[in-house]
Amino acid sequence: MTDFQPAFADGDLSDNESRAVMINGRKVLICRAGGALYAVENRCTHQEAELEGGRIRGCFISCPLHGVRFDLRDGSPMGQLTRVSLPTYEIRVVDGMIEVALDN
Ligand code: FES
Repeated sequence: MTDFQPAFADGDLSDNESRAVMINGRKVLICRAGGALYAVENRCTHQEAELEGGRIRGCFISCPLHGVRFDLRDGSPMGQLTRVSLPTYEIRVVDGMIEVALDN
């Protein structure tokens, strides 16, 4: 069964913003892009920088350190610095609270 964990209130995240949370000891980045919510691991697959605050355009977030762009829908990277996708997590809103499913 998928285990959804609460993160923070849906109203606390504006469009094209991201916020880091720790859920069950895992670094998760919650993003709102183009009005949709996404959850990915908050660790760049290039050199492990945190992605919080990275520029969001369309459904892509850019790593603040060297600028690799990741597709928030499936975590896949663009460009040559890394070929490793970000882990992505299921996300939903229940009663105004964002919840993320961690596969463990
Ligand atoms: S650490 Fe993210 S692009 Fe290098």
